[in-house]
Amino acid sequence: MTDPTHLDPVAAIDRLRAAFRGPAAHRSLHAKGRFYAGTFTPTAEAGALGRARHLHEPTPVLVRWSNAGGNAAVPDRTPDIRGMAVKFRLADGTATDLLGQTSPRFPTDDPEEFVAMTEASVNKLTFPLFLARHPRMVPAILAGVRGKAISTPVSFAETTFYPIHAYGWRDDEDRRTWVRYTFVPTATRADRLDQRFSGADALFEEMAARLERGPVAHEVRVQVAGPGHDPHSSTSVWKGAEELLAGRIEVTEALPDQESDQPVVFDPTRVVDGIELSEDPILRYRPVAYTESVSRRH
Ligand code: HEM
Repeated sequence: MTDPTHLDPVAAIDRLRAAFRGPAAHRSLHAKGRFYAGTFTPTAEAGALGRARHLHEPTPVLVRWSNAGGNAAVPDRTPDIRGMAVKFRLADGTATDLLGQTSPRFPTDDPEEFVAMTEASVNKLTFPLFLARHPRMVPAILAGVRGKAISTPVSFAETTFYPIHAYGWRDDEDRRTWVRYTFVPTATRADRLDQRFSGADALFEEMAARLERGPVAHEVRVQVAGPGHDPHSSTSVWKGAEELLAGRIEVTEALPDQESDQPVVFDPTRVVDGIELSEDPILRYRPVAYTESVSRRH
């Protein structure tokens, strides 16, 4: 297994910030985003497999939809991965986070390779050369292209997001089931607004108008690991895994800036009783990188 500490997080964040030349005080990646409020309502099937409280009762969520690039000045129509970060705020005051992005597969289990790929992706002309030198990454990148991971969507409401890592759900008897999430939109072409949005903030303006009409929902589906499905790797593919509907995230309102006093941090290793982390080296590396990024946001 890769040593998740072998890439100095200070160097990693320096490199990401240099690649995007994003303004100071923004996130080093996913720099442009806005906050929303809603509710997660779980299904009985999820509650049967996991004892975590939010799998048993409707729970308020804080959502941040974002563009993945590190420069918040880039217009929304620019091709990019998109993000949907969700913080589940449990009744006992604890919270757990899931961070989805639009690529269905992750290309590497090595944080250093991810940073190198992100640096290389900024230059569209030389990116194919990078991929030629890293052929193992190509199938995941192609899966992203097929899944329109970097196309400009009409709306975040029509976009599918993948949190990638597996999490262990513990039930009341402490039995563990490994699951992998997908946030699947319920909106279709037929639900599109008549109005067209084309300015630099098109995606966020579209969402504001859509929410004035009514809520925006994503189903939370999970794949359940079977024999041979590796939960400890971001690159593993769970072919033929059973799927179940775990619940629904319904966003009801756009929120004003949430970060005037202190930064909001979405951390994929923030879990609550009943949810367990895997040994996935990308998952284990993320909090050190995010902490370093957050320290530069003050
Ligand atoms: C080694 C791998 C990765 C590195 C180094 C990395 C790095 C970062 C950094 C530095 C930030 C900004 C954090 C902040 O200032 O709060 C960020 C945000 C984010 N990342 Fe990652 N990331 C990695 C993998 C992933 C993966 C696998 C996903 C999704 C499956 C993901 C989804 C996101 C999302 C959605 C945000 C925005 C969170 C928000 O809205 O506050 N990242 N990432």
